[in-house]
Amino acid sequence: NMEENKGNCFTEEQEALVVKSWNAIKNNSGDLSLKFFKKILEIAPPAKQLFSFLKDSNVPLEQNPKLKPHAMSVFIMTCESAVQLRKAGKVTVRESNLKKLGATHFKTGVKEEHFEVTKQALLETIKEAVPEMWSAAMENAWGEAHDQLANAIKAEMKKEH
Ligand code: HEM
Repeated sequence: NMEENKGNCFTEEQEALVVKSWNAIKNNSGDLSLKFFKKILEIAPPAKQLFSFLKDSNVPLEQNPKLKPHAMSVFIMTCESAVQLRKAGKVTVRESNLKKLGATHFKTGVKEEHFEVTKQALLETIKEAVPEMWSAAMENAWGEAHDQLANAIKAEMKKEH
């Protein structure tokens, strides 16, 4: 459908696909966080060294309580970015928060390529959590919301150089 997504236009239907699937899985944040991090480390084992709470830790992932904040930030901020994209046509993370995000990711050595890793981990985790709801349209909606958010963070990281 050529009408569906022109330029920056994020449709109500796309927002609904993101919000609906997030509502179906959000109560299971412990499990989602664990799966998300397992996938990140499967795709890119060296990424372990980026996270302060993983690099020198002997605690198994299953028992590491610190996975949850980062994992949930990625899920929740992506979902929020879907809402912002539909309402405003762009990601509208507060300037101060975006600045902090850019600084944190730059300082910890995160590279542009890492965003593709977390994107894949995010999409696969959701797909496995809602197999009955999953569709190409749902994947595109989450993917678009993610990419616009990631682009905003990456732009802020560039300012840190
Ligand atoms: C920290 C969000 C992508 C690695 C953080 C923090 C947030 C966050 C909210 C807490 C610190 C702060 O507020 O400044 C996100 C979002 C992402 C994303 C929304 C994508 C849409 C990534 C990627 C990587 C990464 C791709 C690397 C694989 C880290 C690391 C920290 C961090 C290493 C510091 C955590 C620590 O060691 O304590 N991120 N992040 N993030 N993020 Fe991300």
